[in-house]
Amino acid sequence: MDSSRIMMKRSREMKRMLLLTFLITGNVFCTTKSRPNFILIMVDDLGIGDVGCYGNKTLRTPNIDQLADKGAKFTQHIAASPLCTPSRAAFMTGRYPVRSGVAAESRIGTFIFSASSGGLPKNEVTFTEILQKEGYSTGIIGKWHLGLNREWKDDFYHHPLNHGFDYFYGITVTHLRDCIPGNGSVFLAGAAETLKQTFVIVGITLFTLIFLNKIGLVKIPGKVFGYILLVFILFIVPVLFFFWNLHYLNCFLMRNYQVIQQPIIYENLTRRMTSEAVNFILRNQNKPFLLYMSYIQVHTALYASATFRGKSKHGIYGDAVEEVDWSIGKIVNELNKNELRDNTLIYFTSDNGAHIEEISSSGEIHGGYNGIFKGGKATNWEGGIRVPGLLYWPGVITSETVINEPTSNMDIFPTIVKLSGATVPQDRIIDGLDLMPLVQRSNVSSEHEFLFHYCNAYLNAVRWNPRNMSD
Ligand SMILES: *[C@@H]1O[C@H](CO)[C@@H](O)[C@H](O)[C@H]1NC(C)=O
Ligand SMILES: *[C@@H]1O[C@H](CO)[C@@H](O)[C@H](O)[C@H]1NC(C)=O
Ligand SMILES: *[C@@H]1O[C@H](CO)[C@@H](O)[C@H](O)[C@H]1NC(C)=O
Ligand SMILES: *[C@@H]1O[C@H](CO)[C@@H](O)[C@H](O)[C@H]1NC(C)=O
Repeated sequence: MDSSRIMMKRSREMKRMLLLTFLITGNVFCTTKSRPNFILIMVDDLGIGDVGCYGNKTLRTPNIDQLADKGAKFTQHIAASPLCTPSRAAFMTGRYPVRSGVAAESRIGTFIFSASSGGLPKNEVTFTEILQKEGYSTGIIGKWHLGLNREWKDDFYHHPLNHGFDYFYGITVTHLRDCIPGNGSVFLAGAAETLKQTFVIVGITLFTLIFLNKIGLVKIPGKVFGYILLVFILFIVPVLFFFWNLHYLNCFLMRNYQVIQQPIIYENLTRRMTSEAVNFILRNQNKPFLLYMSYIQVHTALYASATFRGKSKHGIYGDAVEEVDWSIGKIVNELNKNELRDNTLIYFTSDNGAHIEEISSSGEIHGGYNGIFKGGKATNWEGGIRVPGLLYWPGVITSETVINEPTSNMDIFPTIVKLSGATVPQDRIIDGLDLMPLVQRSNVSSEHEFLFHYCNAYLNAVRWNPRNMSD
């Protein structure tokens, strides 16, 4: 053999070796589960007792139940707050709402006006900001509820795209009865008392002045009465105008920074959100992604598309829950179709307990069911904070895993940050704890020795899980 042939042979061998090495490493990359996709599903105001896998026998939630059957179910899953805004702030940051300041001291604890200034502070770190840096595509579909602007109507300082999301389709505030004319009003119910008091005070003042004038005790020129009336009208007209047009001013649908529907049309909205989710998955199927699917239902005002209306055994509330369940089925199905199932972690929860006092003006029950737990949304009784919690990841989490240890919606933060390959921020306290040791049974007792139950900025109760207690 001459030297040139030897060289050729060597080079061929080298090529083969290189190819082999490539195949081996390529293979390692294909089977690794170190960077899964994430789909985080949050239903608004859904009660733990509304779901089949938590004991409901009459509301049909087969797709949610499937996640529990083939994954892990937390029976003691606790929202960090019984209210939307603080609960979602804790979810996004892995920290108690008092740490980020999204916990009111004297005012109402959630954002109800889109024009309100403020939101989740920028010095907080959201899991989406971390995942974005890790190369994930991040999308939120549905309700954000952590602020919009700071100074001007379009500075978008607190908009989801400024908190680590690449894509947004949904509403920035909350859904309300006032958003659908004819479905009642949260504001007028609240404002009615103030308006009544104003009328009474102005009435009594005017009457007294007229009386004193008449009997000659004081001498008031007729003009003064005119001025009082004028001031009153100047006050009352803008207030009434505002409330009359609230569904227009406050209820709009956005895509990224653009308002695409004002006021929102709710017909088919859950379906439109589902198509958005499916498209997001298809667009991002070749890279790691995180989808936060934050359903606008089943907060009042309730709605369901024609296919679901009048179909459940629990009125429009049940119809709305069953449509959300259908939507979740569509999303899971899309993962299966695109062979993403085994590489996607799905989390399912509600932001707080069911709003059990919600009844329509005609007496129909519009709030969900918290099972055996007392109280509901806006209370720190167990019914206000104990929510459904499911983790589904075939091949990694064993079917029918049931975890009775206390867990929190703040635990999602460290869990997915670690799974994404990033490290949990070290410069601040993260209250959530990684759920993977618990669901994979490497550690049977929860690391949460204490969970603190705040109502807004006030501590109401503490849950103690003694470390030396074993089952
Ligand atoms: C809400 O309003 C719509 C449109 O006015 C009406 O069709 C529907 O019956 C109302 N729903 C409830 C539960 O009040
Ligand atoms: C809702 O969907 C149905 C069925 O596809 C359709 O007939 C209807 O026009 C849609 N409504 C709106 C407002 O888009
Ligand atoms: C199922 O949910 C509905 C709607 O919230 C509720 O009215 C009903 O009591 C629940 N049923 C059971 C058996 O938990
Ligand atoms: C398991 O939990 C105990 C305390 O409950 C803790 O000391 C230990 O570090 C945990 N082990 C793992 C592997 O997480």
